[in-house]
Amino acid sequence: MLVLTAKDIEKIYSMKDAIAADKQALKIYTQGDSDVPLRINFDVQNGQCLFMPAHIRGSDIVGIKIVSVFPDNTKLGKPSVPAQVLMLDPQTGEVCAMLDGTFVTQLRTGAVQGAATDLLARKDASRAVLIGTGGQAISQLEAMLTVRPLTNVAIFDIDHDKGKQFTEQMKKRFVHFSTNLYFSENLDDDISQADIITSVTTSKVATFNGAKVKSGTHINGVGAYTPQMHEIPANIVEKADIRVLDTKDGVFAEAGDIIDPIKQKIVTQDDFLELGDLIINPQKCRQNSQQITLFKTVGTAVLDVYVGYDIYLKAKEQGIGINI
Ligand SMILES: NC(=O)c1ccc[n+]([C@@H]2O[C@H](COP(=O)([O-])OP(=O)(O)OC[C@H]3O[C@@H](n4cnc5c(N)ncnc54)[C@H](O)[C@@H]3O)[C@@H](O)[C@H]2O)c1
Repeated sequence: MLVLTAKDIEKIYSMKDAIAADKQALKIYTQGDSDVPLRINFDVQNGQCLFMPAHIRGSDIVGIKIVSVFPDNTKLGKPSVPAQVLMLDPQTGEVCAMLDGTFVTQLRTGAVQGAATDLLARKDASRAVLIGTGGQAISQLEAMLTVRPLTNVAIFDIDHDKGKQFTEQMKKRFVHFSTNLYFSENLDDDISQADIITSVTTSKVATFNGAKVKSGTHINGVGAYTPQMHEIPANIVEKADIRVLDTKDGVFAEAGDIIDPIKQKIVTQDDFLELGDLIINPQKCRQNSQQITLFKTVGTAVLDVYVGYDIYLKAKEQGIGINI
């Protein structure tokens, strides 16, 4: 079995690789060529353990992500949300790889936004806004920088100190993109100029003012994953010309910022496409520079397992990781 740490994966697998893999994974999902059983949750004494398996038919890629939420772990100096992805050998069924699941999650979640931004944002998009500077934010920023040659990215967090610190770190980390990264002192202003907006927060209320969004903007909602959570303003869900989800099943069951506008009959489920639909039929992407486009993701094990296997194959080829 090959053990792959975040550092190992970083050496051999780029955001571009992950974006290509996510596109392929969601195409397979939308075509109905994968099995994704409901997540199994166990409440245990100190937390919760979640098991997320998936099977990509055809290539027989099988794997599972195990994520646990143990809030008190920080007192022990351990991560509060430990995660691993286990891959099975399609020929023998043996577990053939164990990957750092936290890193795979960040990579595939950034990449799915990158895939949507690539397919939906205007080709000449130059200004972006990133809202939320937590654990998922680095890969979200990297994905936007990867798919469009941005001149400016305004970064915002409700915790200003945290947001400013993150911005300084990102200026160093992503210096090679030559993009002006700055902390947003006036979010309304930055939103009104943005060609791309990505929100990746734990917010229960909309994270920006939808009335400020200009025509032609592409918006990504990455954070909200329970019916109580909202990031995308309802008027944007209403106004958007093209509305795309990673998976309809996941978003309609979990994301408050999409569930509520449907309940309020502002939109119907039929007004939404899946990202896989855009890959199968590219004519469903943006048709002109005035359209507002919206992408919402809550994640799916298909992404973890497809990306996990892609990383495993590359690592085997290049002799990376520890074999045990
Ligand atoms: N779509 C997916 O596949 C996927 C995958 C992983 C995580 N997530 C979700 O993404 C969200 C972010 O994850 P994370 O690990 O970065 O969380 P985190 O807790 O590390 O960071 C969240 C950040 O959002 C900020 N924030 C909260 N409310 C805000 C608001 N109204 N305006 C601006 N900033 C605000 C917080 O200050 C914090 O810095 C979580 O809800 C997580 O469950 C989604």
